[in-house]
Amino acid sequence: MIGKRKEEHIRIAENEDVSSFHNFWDDISLMHEADPEVNYDEIDTSVNFAGKNLKFPMIISSMTGGAEIAKNINRNLAIAAERFGIGMGVGSMRAAIVDRSIEDTYSVINESRVPLKIANIGAPQLVRQDKDAVSAKDIAYIYDLIKADFLAVHFNFLQEMVQPEGDRNSKGVIDRIRELSGSFNIIAKETGSGFSRKTAERLVDAGVKAIEVSGMSGTTFAAVEYYRAKKENNLEKMRVGETFWNWGIPSPASVHYCSDLVPVIGSGGLRNGLDLAKAIVMGATVGGFARTLLKDADTSPDQLMKNIELIQREFRVAMFLTGSKNVYELKFTKKIISEPLKDWLEAK
Ligand SMILES: Cc1cc2nc3c(=O)[nH]c(=O)nc-3n(C[C@H](O)[C@H](O)[C@H](O)COP(=O)(O)O)c2cc1C
Repeated sequence: MIGKRKEEHIRIAENEDVSSFHNFWDDISLMHEADPEVNYDEIDTSVNFAGKNLKFPMIISSMTGGAEIAKNINRNLAIAAERFGIGMGVGSMRAAIVDRSIEDTYSVINESRVPLKIANIGAPQLVRQDKDAVSAKDIAYIYDLIKADFLAVHFNFLQEMVQPEGDRNSKGVIDRIRELSGSFNIIAKETGSGFSRKTAERLVDAGVKAIEVSGMSGTTFAAVEYYRAKKENNLEKMRVGETFWNWGIPSPASVHYCSDLVPVIGSGGLRNGLDLAKAIVMGATVGGFARTLLKDADTSPDQLMKNIELIQREFRVAMFLTGSKNVYELKFTKKIISEPLKDWLEAK
């Protein structure tokens, strides 16, 4: 059942337009330096993210697991993560808690030496719904399964709300995070709607070590659920999915709201290496890519690596043209912000 839903999500994300109406990374321009005084070949793209060294400031955002096609995708993503020295997350691991026979669709990433691995569980699963909440023992199991460095707790309440049968209780999530943060390195992660300053402050107070913003600009799960509903001819779900298609906080604004609190993964709508450079300039420590990589990851490791190589090249070009020898210098690049992002930045 979970496997079928995961496969459906992948197919919809690969084949339908599930992006929000506007990509807010387009509202940022970086100041050009005609004489950068940098040797392109000496540019240093390495970073340290919450204690882990990466060769390039990129994370493959959590996407999948729990279905047969997911195993292949995760294997390919891990091969690329090792090759480029970048981090990676797996998709929600609830499926492995419920049915351990599919644990290899996640643990397959241990075949590669991924420098930073992120386990994943949904915030709704941390509290009682019509089923029991996951226990600390369940979390320890998924953490050990992939030998994780971090646990992403993903917030997907927009997606839950679009589905009439979705999980509807969020009371107590913050207390569970406070309890679990004593034993696990938690990343609070959105899935397309971003974090406000208010929520970010509460999560950091509860002990999260980092935030992955995954704001509005790219994949929206209101759209994914809209297409699932369309297939089922479920008019109620289609209507709510359409109404909330563009709900959320723009990714660059959410980076701006959170990045003075804890290290931030800037994600949601990153398409190329220039978007990644903009995420760093906005205050992120690294950038996270999901849907941009999905089709290639589903095809072959070579295809995927070609895509990431291009992202890397574009990022280095942006560093060169802004006169940045290393990622620290890139952070101080002058940026020009236009509407509608400008209004959101002022709403911090
Ligand atoms: C097919 C698919 C499955 C996803 N599954 C998960 C998941 O299980 N857990 C999670 O935290 N995020 C999941 N996400 C959300 C991504 O990690 C990311 O936050 C979101 O897609 C925004 O990034 P993008 O615009 O680069 O796609 C999924 C995304 C896609 C496209």
